[in-house]
Amino acid sequence: MKRIVYLLLVSVLVLSCKTEEKKDEKNELTVYTHRHYESDQELFKEFEEESGIQLNIVNASADELIQKMSLEGAESPADVLITVDAGRLYRAKSKDLLQSFSSEMIDSIVPSHLRDEDKQWVSLTKRARVIAYAKDRVDSTQLSTYENLTSEDWDDKILVRSSSNIYNQSLLASIIANKGNEFAENWAQGVVENMARDPKGNDRDQVKAVANGEGDLAIVNTYYIGKLLNSSDKDEVDAGNSVSIFFPNQNTTGTHVNVSGIGVAKHASNKENAIQFIEFLLEEKAQNIFAGSNYEYPVNPNVEPADILKSWGDFKEDELSLNELGKNNKEAVIIFDKVGWK
Ligand SMILES: [Fe+2]
Repeated sequence: MKRIVYLLLVSVLVLSCKTEEKKDEKNELTVYTHRHYESDQELFKEFEEESGIQLNIVNASADELIQKMSLEGAESPADVLITVDAGRLYRAKSKDLLQSFSSEMIDSIVPSHLRDEDKQWVSLTKRARVIAYAKDRVDSTQLSTYENLTSEDWDDKILVRSSSNIYNQSLLASIIANKGNEFAENWAQGVVENMARDPKGNDRDQVKAVANGEGDLAIVNTYYIGKLLNSSDKDEVDAGNSVSIFFPNQNTTGTHVNVSGIGVAKHASNKENAIQFIEFLLEEKAQNIFAGSNYEYPVNPNVEPADILKSWGDFKEDELSLNELGKNNKEAVIIFDKVGWK
């Protein structure tokens, strides 16, 4: 009995210390982030100086962070979660790891298709999944849509990374949402049949393979082209220069875009700070840094993209609600397995 009383006392003490701790955390914000870009360090420092709020940054892959938040439960120190794909934000939301938040500023800046329908997360930057084609072997008039990639013209010509990658899963999820499962499956099958090689490497490696003549078309996110062209490695610059960018589906659904985004953690102890941080990241100053250093499209419409992105011209984006990418992710993975997209 004594022992039980003692244990109870200890837990009460521990709990009250915890509450104390949480109260003291007013000037802190714990950021779980999967973004792997230098621009973010600059932004984090800037925010700390401007707000006086100290950031605790936890960096890992989105899957690891989501897993960590699940295991930590109500004890999780996470206040916000940043991922580089809407599909992962959707996953965090469906695991009940996020909570709704509201901000008039955010609602007025970010278009509704780039926000969660339950206001649990919002986009920070956009990236388009485009076709990078060999300048010397392909004429842009031969290109039109993602659907056209299954044409016999591209037999053995397509380079694309593995289906385990969320960028491809989200692209297929968008096709499922726009055209249905059966169409999506035939499309994925057709792309597999036209692949120049088994998928390997990241988006940059696909462009390098086009430069080496292994294939003619690479499916890639726009910012990787910006990075290649601005690399300190001459081979990367050459690879970037060997291709031109084509925005598919301009006369139909629009080019598939994905986002990096941020959600407020369900057990955030610093929700106000979290909202302040998100607003900071969407203001023109921060959006300019995102745009300038990582070649992503800003979501704030008052901010212009980097010169190199501007040089590719404006494009029509698919305005499918990003929620659909999450909802159709599972089906996309099933289809990829079925058609043997490695
Ligand atoms: Fe990436």
